[in-house]
Amino acid sequence: MRNHLIPVLTIDGPSGSGKGTIAQRMAQKLGWHYLDSGAIYRVLAVAAMKHHIDLADTAQLTTLASNLDLNFKFDDQGLKVLLEGENVTDTIRTEQMGNAASKVAAQPAVRSALLERQRDFKQAPGLVTDGRDMGTVVFEEAPYKVFLTANSTARAERRYKQLKEKGIESILADLTREISERDERDSQRSVAPLCAAEDALVLDSTALTIEEVYTQVLALVS
Ligand code: DC
Repeated sequence: MRNHLIPVLTIDGPSGSGKGTIAQRMAQKLGWHYLDSGAIYRVLAVAAMKHHIDLADTAQLTTLASNLDLNFKFDDQGLKVLLEGENVTDTIRTEQMGNAASKVAAQPAVRSALLERQRDFKQAPGLVTDGRDMGTVVFEEAPYKVFLTANSTARAERRYKQLKEKGIESILADLTREISERDERDSQRSVAPLCAAEDALVLDSTALTIEEVYTQVLALVS
């Protein structure tokens, strides 16, 4: 299939909006490939720490991003993320790595270095992708775009529950503050800030169940 004919569904939104869950379900339902673009920035942050690179050192981070030895693998437990062959699936999911990812992602040269790597995921029969700039920059041509949001209290509560289910104790007030700080950084940066594409279906999931969101997204693509 010619590249421009391969359908892409982009799901963008702030952290805790439920975009990851919806994107994975949609990819499974449609039998399309899946790109978790946030995981790439998270892996870059882990790689920077591993190689003792300062998160503000754009030149070194950009070189690291261009040569990032990153692999995604699917098994019965879901998405597995490998950095230089090492399983970093759980390491990248902490709040600390989310924040570090947001800092590296604010640097334009780092984003450019990762652009083609993300676009390479566009393979037949289709691609579902989640992130912040999927519909506005990376896959601007996508025929299906969703911007999923929810108020910050609801998102912090969801995150709190998710962490608790994983056996990780956290403090709701800290999560709320961290989410707000990350939103602020992701929305205010100079390049590819978090915002809805003009042609995106905007869904506020604050008062919706995951099922209700899923039904609406599925209707968009069907
Ligand atoms: O979706 P996430 O929480 O895993 O993303 C982690 C950080 O990575 C997020 O705070 C900002 C950055 N990010 C980005 O800048 N652009 C994307 N397309 C995805 C994530």
